[in-house]
Amino acid sequence: LKVDLKMKEFERLCVNVVNDFEIPNEKRKALRVLLNSCFPDYFPQREYFKQIPKFRYLVWNEEKLIAQMGVEDRVINVGGDIVRIFGVIDLCVEDCYRSNNIATNLLIMLENLGQQNGIEFIIVFANDHKLYRKNGYKIVTNICRWLAIDELKSVDIFEQPLTDCFMVKSLSPKPWNDGIVDLLGYLF
Ligand SMILES: CC(C)(COP(=O)(O)OP(=O)(O)OC[C@H]1O[C@@H](n2cnc3c(N)ncnc32)[C@H](O)[C@@H]1OP(=O)(O)O)[C@@H](O)C(=O)NCCC(=O)NCCS
Repeated sequence: LKVDLKMKEFERLCVNVVNDFEIPNEKRKALRVLLNSCFPDYFPQREYFKQIPKFRYLVWNEEKLIAQMGVEDRVINVGGDIVRIFGVIDLCVEDCYRSNNIATNLLIMLENLGQQNGIEFIIVFANDHKLYRKNGYKIVTNICRWLAIDELKSVDIFEQPLTDCFMVKSLSPKPWNDGIVDLLGYLF
């Protein structure tokens, strides 16, 4: 059953922006339930996949958690250029609330936060590009280097293009360089 939100109803949703470490246990439980229903089998015992996001947007309809977006806050090396980025992690909206622009609104909120604070690019790794294309993200073809983590163990440094999923949105006039992108950490 779909929930069709009118603009007024959307404004009544409560959006918290919280450091991950500050999320209390009962809300953490709700987060795990939401992540499990949106990404089946990815979050068996925890609310993160490879590592803990720095902060999260949590969207509540009264007591019910209906959407979340984790955010990575990092510098990366783009062809020798050190740039400050936000990374979008595990953005999801509960099934029956989808297609009400909730994800789009979260992306816009993150973009505004980034712009106010000198963040130069927002990055996402997404197999399905539709939502992000609609919001101005573009595929980039750079070769990427990152720390491979498997089952909570560092296993290797990988280096390969991620042309099927690596998307970038620019928040400043700075151009996106060619050359190797060193993520200076794990692939979120
Ligand atoms: C992707 C997702 C967060 C979109 O949330 P939403 O609030 O419905 O998004 P919006 O209303 O702002 O935009 C909807 C558009 O997103 C696009 N979209 C749908 N599913 C998508 C997906 N899995 N990935 C990317 N884009 C998607 C479609 O173009 C859709 O347009 P439509 O409503 O005309 O079909 C939601 O579908 C979801 O939670 N999917 C499961 C988890 C997931 O795949 N997350 C993406 C991780 S990168």
